[in-house]
Amino acid sequence: MQSIPNGDLAGRCDLVTDVEDAVDPATGKGDIDHAADFMRLLAPPLALRLSVSAAAGGRLFSQINCNACHLPVMMTGASPLPAVAHQRVALFSDLLLHNMGALGDGIEQDNAKGSDIRTAPLWGLRARTRFLHDGRATTVGEAVLGHAGEGAVARDRFKALNAVQKQQLFDYLKSI
Ligand code: HEC
Repeated sequence: MQSIPNGDLAGRCDLVTDVEDAVDPATGKGDIDHAADFMRLLAPPLALRLSVSAAAGGRLFSQINCNACHLPVMMTGASPLPAVAHQRVALFSDLLLHNMGALGDGIEQDNAKGSDIRTAPLWGLRARTRFLHDGRATTVGEAVLGHAGEGAVARDRFKALNAVQKQQLFDYLKSI
């Protein structure tokens, strides 16, 4: 298997300057820099104020160990851009690969095995209608039930919640 999914592109990229590559002398930036600035400075999805039910769901989220992988908060490191340096980021991911067993996408890349998947950030979940890497889940509940491998224990703890507790957890996930 190739180590780069699209093949080895080295030496095949277009080195001819095009119109979008022009650098604005006033800012020293080209279109690609503006696009990068836009992405880098895009605000994160807004978290909602937690209802009583959502707050209870937040406690369940840690009790059943969802937060082992979906870390509620990470900090950014140093950056020449003050707006993004040492910021608290409530992304709900550890940004690490986990062996998710049968949930894996089968893609092997360098040391990552076909069952390794990066923890999906959960922020802004309420704006989404498809979940998991291939969009196979249409509800948050289905997405949790799809967890296998290292995620199996949390999945089984989720299964063991009663209907009210499950709703509390969903209310929490819809607020973050
Ligand atoms: C062992 C680490 C791990 C644990 C524990 C874990 N998750 Fe996940 N979670 C993942 C990974 C990895 C993905 C990405 C899977 C994919 O893309 O197919 C994911 C994806 C999700 C998604 C889908 C997000 C999306 O954008 O598609 C939801 C929802 C979710 N997890 C909720 C939970 C909840 C709730 C719990 C606790 C019951 C939990 N997870 C426990 C690793 C974990």
